[in-house]
Amino acid sequence: MTQQRNLILIGPMGAGKSTIGRQVSSLLHYEFVDSDHEIEDRSGADIPWIFDVEGEEGFRKRESAMIDELTLRTHIVLATGGGAVMREDNRRIIEARGIVVYLKATVEQQLARTARDQNRPLLQTDNPREVLTELMALRDPLYNDIADYVVETDQGGVKDVASRIVSLVSDDL
Ligand code: S3P
Repeated sequence: MTQQRNLILIGPMGAGKSTIGRQVSSLLHYEFVDSDHEIEDRSGADIPWIFDVEGEEGFRKRESAMIDELTLRTHIVLATGGGAVMREDNRRIIEARGIVVYLKATVEQQLARTARDQNRPLLQTDNPREVLTELMALRDPLYNDIADYVVETDQGGVKDVASRIVSLVSDDL
């Protein structure tokens, strides 16, 4: 069991980590923190710019440092980026420093939620469906591996999903 009182949300792009996380944080009276936003604030650049100039590898380095730093806080709800689980160090840190909830979404939902989105470099392609499908095949086992709970985000609205999460985790926090 974790020492820190944190809730860490993992899962793919468009699963609702930020919207649901915000709602959960207000129910728990925890602070909401979004790793991608913190990276943007800290670097003074947006994610597409970081990918352009530093490559995905540059972004991943910033992401690892940010996750390490943010998870040392307590009483936060942390929304991580969809690719955070790709690095073993990140997985170890996430697992150790919070209750981990995997927000699971179908590729169909992800597509609907990310359509017209310009802020996700990996989806700026002719075939986002194919990208999301491949990423899911690669990452789903990793999400499952470190998750304490798996929550499907296609049942009910944001508030319903958020209260479901709060009831699941309330004894652990
Ligand atoms: C990524 C997901 C994004 C962001 C970056 C890369 C990924 O975060 O970190 O564009 O590799 O899946 P969200 O999951 O919040 O969209």
